[in-house]
Amino acid sequence: MATDPALPQTDEEAVAELARLSAELAHHNRAYHTDDAPEISDAAYDALVRRNLAVEAAFPHLVRGDSPSAQVGAAPATHLAKVAHARPMLSLDNAFSDEEVAEFVQRIRRFLSLAKDEPISLTAEPKIDGLSCSLRFEKGLLVRALTRGDGTTGEDVTENVRHVAGIPRHLTITPNLTPPDIFEVRGEVFMKKSDFADLNRELAANGTRVGRAKQFANPRNAAAGSLRQKDSSVTASRSLSFLAHGVGEASYVPADTQFELMQAVEVLGLQVSNLMARLNSLNDVLDHYRAIEAERADLPFDIDGVVYKIDRLDWQARLGFVGRAPRWALAHKFPAERAQTTLNAIDIQVGRTGKLTPVARLEPVTVGGVVVTNATLHNADEIARLGVRPGDRVVIQRAGDVIPQIVENLSRDDTRAPWGFPTHCPECGSDAVREEGEVDIRCSGGLVCPAQRTERLKHFASRGALDIEGLGAQQIEDFVTDGLLHTPADIFRLTQAQLLPRKKDGKVWAANLLRAIEAKRAPDPVRFLFGLGIRHVGSITARELLKAFGTVQAIAEVATRAHDDEAARAEIEAVEGIGPIVTQALIAFFAEPHNREAWDDLLSEVAPEPFVQVQRTSQVSGKTVVFTGTLETLSRDEAKAQAEALGARVSGSVSAKTDLLVAGTAAGSKRKKAEEAGVRVVDEAGWLAIVAAAG
Ligand code: IVH
Repeated sequence: MATDPALPQTDEEAVAELARLSAELAHHNRAYHTDDAPEISDAAYDALVRRNLAVEAAFPHLVRGDSPSAQVGAAPATHLAKVAHARPMLSLDNAFSDEEVAEFVQRIRRFLSLAKDEPISLTAEPKIDGLSCSLRFEKGLLVRALTRGDGTTGEDVTENVRHVAGIPRHLTITPNLTPPDIFEVRGEVFMKKSDFADLNRELAANGTRVGRAKQFANPRNAAAGSLRQKDSSVTASRSLSFLAHGVGEASYVPADTQFELMQAVEVLGLQVSNLMARLNSLNDVLDHYRAIEAERADLPFDIDGVVYKIDRLDWQARLGFVGRAPRWALAHKFPAERAQTTLNAIDIQVGRTGKLTPVARLEPVTVGGVVVTNATLHNADEIARLGVRPGDRVVIQRAGDVIPQIVENLSRDDTRAPWGFPTHCPECGSDAVREEGEVDIRCSGGLVCPAQRTERLKHFASRGALDIEGLGAQQIEDFVTDGLLHTPADIFRLTQAQLLPRKKDGKVWAANLLRAIEAKRAPDPVRFLFGLGIRHVGSITARELLKAFGTVQAIAEVATRAHDDEAARAEIEAVEGIGPIVTQALIAFFAEPHNREAWDDLLSEVAPEPFVQVQRTSQVSGKTVVFTGTLETLSRDEAKAQAEALGARVSGSVSAKTDLLVAGTAAGSKRKKAEEAGVRVVDEAGWLAIVAAAG
């Protein structure tokens, strides 16, 4: 490994280097976050960040307010180091009623064979909605912090937790309590409600994105997103808190009971919930639960229940755990919160795939401290089930961070006419259709509907479809936002004049993109038909249709006739692998006038080739091939299309009929199964060699 270059010696040198690093990091942040097109590896990016921090540490007086180390919005880490826990981090069993809590206590009595009058003490404390973290102190010093991960292995967030309020870098030494040599304190990292609101306000004001979203959905996500960062300076810019709730590995345990153990943890310098109590009867436990519930809305952080733990540590040890949860602890969850309000209107939202979802617009009402104005109504069946119409009084429920739901209609009156679900898409006016046996109603205006536009265009240009080089997802999003693209035909009308101003020195880029588009004026018909995104018409179906009808125009013609001609419908259904659902989808697509218009428009720009059955003989002709894992140079659709072009069948699962498994990176169980079954396995390079050999 190359050694780091020496640090700058003078202020002038440091200023110059910090300026260079700042520009470079800004450039790569933009490439990664805004353009979705990283130019350097994560490791190289990290090296730049570390270098910047090192220079800043050596010249602290030169750190500027706009230093890259002070910026928010980096992507959550995907490559935090994984480290095994010294003791597994368990989860908790849940109870939702007083009876279940009573049963829990009974179970413990039985398990420990306790006499009827033997008292059991329990601790009770809030269940905080954050993410658990294990802090390892050795000889009093914080040496490692891990997230829970899968309970056995966590992610290393040691540097990050140094910026969390309530996590000391070393334990407190007092005359009465020497810190154990090894002491793991476990607890919850969370974000206070007020800090969460401030953070989202700040993100909105700066236009900073968190991943693909503009803001964090709730304090728990914000806490997780802020802690699980590769760059600890991002964590430092967020306000996180910590409360301890237990102990992991300890070279000795400085108490006999949970309650005293947590007092010791407090003496050692960590914070413990001030709502933790030790209680000696079931009634007292349940009273404490209700007291915490009453305070819930006024607490500075989100909680979703109360956690009970058997106080005696020797009993905890005897009780052990079942599965992933201790027998000696229980989470008593709060019921979903409910409130009454008026349903003002039912709006229809059109999803990116064309699904029409009814949304209830409510008279604003506070439910558990949160003002609710919308609730989901799922689908037409749900509206019918509740019998709701605008103006009705309804009961709404909010549980955790799920979208509020309407659970009851207080104005139900089944003599009224039911609310009529729209027959047309509110976004584009195309027919809204419900497929047989489906609950969802969908817009059939795939090619024209603005709600679906971006996804459709991405699909049309994608690798498995037209495969237009340089016209990626981000590019399409930007072009749609700026009004350059509405329908697929618009792609072929893009001009140099439109493209040039979009990028600095964009001449080469624009020329390349236009050339790539021109190259697809006579597209492969299977890719073209698949690219239209007609429901249920994947690349295999597209190929079968073309095999049967020869050209895309002939398919459009027969699908149009089939709208009111049984014979034409039967002709489509007779095609190999095509049933009534695909047939209906084709008919609906071509019957929709807006689609028809976009189709005619598109065919005035491009001329798909007629279908030619390529008879390439290869080692996989007539064989069954399965793809698994991540392919680096091919999309799945592309690989599938290659296999089919070579006369192979592509299947999704390994079975006795499988002849070849193509295993990309991170191939898991399928690879194992294939190897066990003696199926031939090749990697991506092996697959490409098979394709190349077929010529
Ligand atoms: S005790 C062995 N106490 O809840 C049991 N957990 O649903 C260890 N949590 O993974 C957990 N507040 O992240 C405990 N006061 C509390 C808690 C708490 C929140 C979380 C913890 C755990 C999850 C289980």
